[in-house]
Amino acid sequence: VARTPFIAGNWKMNLDHLQAVAFVQKLHWTLKEAKHDAGTVEVAVFPPFTDLRTVQTLIDADKIPFGLGAQDLSTHDSGAYTGEISGQFLAKLDARYVIIGHSERRQYHAESDEIVAQKVQAALRHGLIPVICVGETAEDLEEFGASAVPVGQLQTALAGVPADADIVVAYEPVWAIGSGQAATPDQAQEVCAKLREVVGSALGPDAAARTRVLYGGSVKSGNIASFMREPDVDGALVGGASLVVDEFAAIVRFQK
Ligand code: G3H
Repeated sequence: VARTPFIAGNWKMNLDHLQAVAFVQKLHWTLKEAKHDAGTVEVAVFPPFTDLRTVQTLIDADKIPFGLGAQDLSTHDSGAYTGEISGQFLAKLDARYVIIGHSERRQYHAESDEIVAQKVQAALRHGLIPVICVGETAEDLEEFGASAVPVGQLQTALAGVPADADIVVAYEPVWAIGSGQAATPDQAQEVCAKLREVVGSALGPDAAARTRVLYGGSVKSGNIASFMREPDVDGALVGGASLVVDEFAAIVRFQK
């Protein structure tokens, strides 16, 4: 199965709705000028909630070939949950993706594996593709090795997910996020291959073959190609480097 490479830009809590317009327009023109073929690499941006409407309108009006995603969603669909954002609102904004279980949510907002699993179900209920993030901390790495924690996190997240569900998995070692110290391509390949096996055990061989498994953690234009050469790494979830137009465009235009 040929899996289209996927480069996802997680803006985290950066770029307000005015900056977002300038950024998306500039990224679009930079890729257009470079004659980037949008069919060869899928690009998606994950702005803060308050930018989603503006970015969606721009993508729609200018026929910009970027996918749109949110950075989180509520486990609930509606009701008395002050401050929460429902999957049905995201779906109405034409969001295609939603990041779930990012390590910053797990770390700063006490998101357990069970909450992550409920959020995956919430995303699927509304036709959103969950980008399920898993990864080990430096302490986990020392104690259990690289794959045990992300494998366990993904097993819990996939409980009850139907075999035909569209999902994306992102392996993000916590020690590599924003640290400038990316995993080696070998390390990324080893864990991404194990995560693909987890998808296979939970959802079956077809899902394992079609599901894209991304690497994330200090990805930049200088190291993206080395990750993309690995057979089980299908793309990248990019944080810091997704906020710099030329750098993100260079990541999208990686050459193996
Ligand atoms: O979601 C993105 C990751 O947390 C990676 O962030 O590219 O700044 O290391 P980073």
